[in-house]
Amino acid sequence: MDNKEEGLYPVIAIDGPSASGKGTLARRLAEHFGFAWLDTGLLYRAVGLAVLRAGKDPSDAAAAQAAAEALDPVAVTKGVDREALRSDEASMAASKVAAIPAVRAALLKFQRDFCLTPPEGKKGAVLDGRDIGTVVAPDATVKLFITAGAETRAARRFKELQERGQDATYAAVLADMQARDARDAERALAPTKPARDAVIVDTTSLDADQAFEACVGIASKALATGA
Ligand code: DC
Repeated sequence: MDNKEEGLYPVIAIDGPSASGKGTLARRLAEHFGFAWLDTGLLYRAVGLAVLRAGKDPSDAAAAQAAAEALDPVAVTKGVDREALRSDEASMAASKVAAIPAVRAALLKFQRDFCLTPPEGKKGAVLDGRDIGTVVAPDATVKLFITAGAETRAARRFKELQERGQDATYAAVLADMQARDARDAERALAPTKPARDAVIVDTTSLDADQAFEACVGIASKALATGA
């Protein structure tokens, strides 16, 4: 197939719950294959943060929709507000706005266009999120669902916060993560779940390099066959 003519480049869809390691894997896979990378969680975080900055409640559907429609996704991908977007406040607000259908609809086109025309002339795209394999790119060449036990994920996140010198307790990190994951997995629209044709990679007993090697193996095979 002439990819250029069809406007169809290979897409690697990576989904999974928070702190599963999917973001690091997505970045490394994109580097490995020379593809563009989009961390779609950042878009939801940016909407959540914009609602908070407007002094509104992230569960307020009208306020969240307005923020999503006003969002400049390119600025987000270029690093605007990167530190603020990483905060727990932004992540909790993101999980609330992400449950609002009009917000998801407003962010969909940008994500699909990223797959069709990856930036910087790249010949493929890696997207990570919760609904990439199910909704954003149901025809993705490779679909990975990265997961790990809740305690393992909370311990990884806790270690990360400690290394950044932030105040936190393991119990609070675990409770926050479980609340967020429950909301992401139980919402009616585009909940966190593996696509039927996703390969599930459980990283509970893998370190970052082992998880990366496993994913490169799966992705290389699928990219070679285009399946
Ligand atoms: O991956 P993350 O923690 O940065 O995501 C932030 C929130 O956005 C998370 O609660 C789930 C939501 N999200 C989503 O609903 N769909 C996506 N494709 C990506 C993120």
